[in-house]
Amino acid sequence: MTLATFYTYPIIQAPMAGGTANPKLSAAVSNAGGLGFLVAGYKTAEEMREEIKQTRKLTSSPFGVNLFVPSDDTIEPAILGDYAGRLENTAKRLAVSPGEARNDDDDWDNKLEVIIDEHIPVVSFTFGCPDSNVLDRLKKNGSYIIITVTSPQEAVKAAQAGANALCLQGIEAGGHRSTFQNNDDAEDFSLLPLLRLVRQQVNLPLIAAGGIMHGQDIAALLTAGAEAIQLGTAFLRCPESGAKQLHKQALKDNRFSSTTVTRAFTGRRARGITNDFILQYGDSAPTAYPFVHYMTKPIRKAAAEAGDMEAMALWAGQGYRLAQDLPAAEIVSQLVEQAQQALQGRKRL
Ligand SMILES: Cc1cc2nc3c(=O)[nH]c(=O)nc-3n(C[C@H](O)[C@H](O)[C@H](O)COP(=O)(O)O)c2cc1C
Repeated sequence: MTLATFYTYPIIQAPMAGGTANPKLSAAVSNAGGLGFLVAGYKTAEEMREEIKQTRKLTSSPFGVNLFVPSDDTIEPAILGDYAGRLENTAKRLAVSPGEARNDDDDWDNKLEVIIDEHIPVVSFTFGCPDSNVLDRLKKNGSYIIITVTSPQEAVKAAQAGANALCLQGIEAGGHRSTFQNNDDAEDFSLLPLLRLVRQQVNLPLIAAGGIMHGQDIAALLTAGAEAIQLGTAFLRCPESGAKQLHKQALKDNRFSSTTVTRAFTGRRARGITNDFILQYGDSAPTAYPFVHYMTKPIRKAAAEAGDMEAMALWAGQGYRLAQDLPAAEIVSQLVEQAQQALQGRKRL
């Protein structure tokens, strides 16, 4: 089983939690010849199973499911209490209170059982690498395993654990950094050096992700040795995307002009459009995922209901200005055409 058996074109729609990736989006991408992804993150195992069933009604092509590996972060209650106190400022304005900080494993065991039960062809993991027993069990059940990595060290660990392929996430990427550890110890690699350095040490198919918005960039990364390309932000504005309307609008709103990697919303580093919330809380947010995610949840929900983009998590990659309001199938065919032209018309040195 090779990665190429799952698509006609090496274009993967990134798993995007929080409602963005859904059966409509992933089926549209898979039907267009790419590989669509569903997400397990923040859902129950049964909600995830329901989405798998819905997607199967919309496409007979393969699609993947992405899982968050549970975190073992611990945090002193006093630090969380201090952050809750600061959040009161925004919470009061939106007439809510910060949520209760807690850890959970995102229904991990039950989700693995659903993945086994439903014989999911492609399974990707983020925020870590499950141990070899888990990967062996899934592989024996017929799944192809992708581990998301952000450094050459993580790539070597994932290869040793038995991954079939790696998704390399550059610092340009929108959404959460998929570092195995939630700390500031590791270097933030841009996609091209990451691809080159990992290729030196690991002989697995490599998927490139982060800031890719155009077929010429796909051609460049294929030339540089990527087997496939994963794009998230490029699909955010599609009509099939379940991103909130305000999130879609923010991507083209001139009041915003940059993205920032921040722990402010969830306690884990993630790239989003720089808004007031990030400016106000980015420096003081504790390293505590998913504790902080649960603390800010009522604030983010109230902000969305009030039409307040300044207190929402507007996840987006560095290329977000280039996102287009086009059906997912058109995005895929545009990318394919651009990449094919670029590969044919390669400049000579
Ligand atoms: C809104 C949003 C949600 C995301 N959620 C997930 C997720 O649930 N799981 C995951 O592995 N990656 C997630 N990512 C990261 C993507 O897998 C990918 O690394 C990223 O989108 C690539 O960068 P780009 O957005 O610039 O294309 C998310 C990205 C965005 C923009």
